[in-house]
Amino acid sequence: MGNYSIAVLAGDGIGPEVIEQAVRVLQNIGKRYGHTFNLQYAMVGVAAIEAEGNAISDATMQLCQRSDAILFGAVGGIPRFEGPNSKIQPERALFRLRKELALYANLRPIHPLKALLNASTIKPEALQGTDLLVVRELTGGLYFGKPSEIRETSQGLEAVDTLLYSEKEIERIVRTAFELARGRRKKVTSVDKANVLSTSRLWRRTADRIAQDYPDVSLEHLLVDTCAMQLIRQPSSFDVIVTENMFGDILTDEASMLAGSMGMLPSASLGTRETAHGLFGLYEPIHGSAPDIAGQNKANPIAAILSAAMMLRHSFNLKQEAQTIETAVEMVIEAGYRSVDLYEPGKETVHTKEMGRLIAEAITV
Ligand code: IPM
Ligand code: MN
Repeated sequence: MGNYSIAVLAGDGIGPEVIEQAVRVLQNIGKRYGHTFNLQYAMVGVAAIEAEGNAISDATMQLCQRSDAILFGAVGGIPRFEGPNSKIQPERALFRLRKELALYANLRPIHPLKALLNASTIKPEALQGTDLLVVRELTGGLYFGKPSEIRETSQGLEAVDTLLYSEKEIERIVRTAFELARGRRKKVTSVDKANVLSTSRLWRRTADRIAQDYPDVSLEHLLVDTCAMQLIRQPSSFDVIVTENMFGDILTDEASMLAGSMGMLPSASLGTRETAHGLFGLYEPIHGSAPDIAGQNKANPIAAILSAAMMLRHSFNLKQEAQTIETAVEMVIEAGYRSVDLYEPGKETVHTKEMGRLIAEAITV
């Protein structure tokens, strides 16, 4: 029976709605297994910009540093803060957390539930057997490279972003992928654009070198455009995909549709810091703030709930408890309940709070 401290950063858009349901589920896990989750709420994104002048304050960063894990909702997507001329972007909160907490490994598992094979826009027979994990590099590449700016020249404006990777950065993420593949089907697909980019050529060379330390795991290389195609053509051919930051961002939105909806996909962002309970990490749904449906009780809370399950597994070593949440989600879906994004004729459509309640109750039984 443990005592765990969690920084809860619900953020913008649908973030607060889905996090509320994840917290409800966590509370029932606490009751059932006798754990105490100490939740410390803090602001990020637009609320933090308005109240504290920054997308994430120093005090909130310190709170995160003291916690065993972070449960994160979403930031951004608010028109007032978007667009080419906005000075403070809510997304900065995420970038600061990722970079300063050195959360370089972003794990995005995609394992469509059997009962949802028909919910996807892809044919069920193509989805059969799909169970893949994308390991996205999260603290390098175009997201952080300098210079990154719009600047004036004598010929007019120009803009630059910088794609830079050190061998060390590539090595540690590729190792993470190989380690994870060992606990799965022992296949790593390294995704790059080595026919064009120098960073990709170093990436490929490094992946080949690391592979020698893992003779029990097979390694294939795939160009990112081919990978995008193969994810739709034969998703079951993948086990672990490892790739750089921007490719990983794009491919995981694509891959999320294999699971029926982005509203189903959780993620874990991990570094190397160990707490008393396990690996420190940040857990968030991949769907983002979805401002078009915010505040309407329409969002699918499952991605946030499954992110809480990943937190139990990776940061607290509570494997059985994590499994209990995952089973509860499956039971509720199999019983025929669907969130709005998963609408299916003949099934019962339920809203955010109702879906959260059903899953939380499936845990107490
Ligand atoms: C994600 C998101 C973020 C990213 C946005 C909100 C900056 O799309 O986590 O995938 O691009 O990393
Ligand atoms: Mn994204």
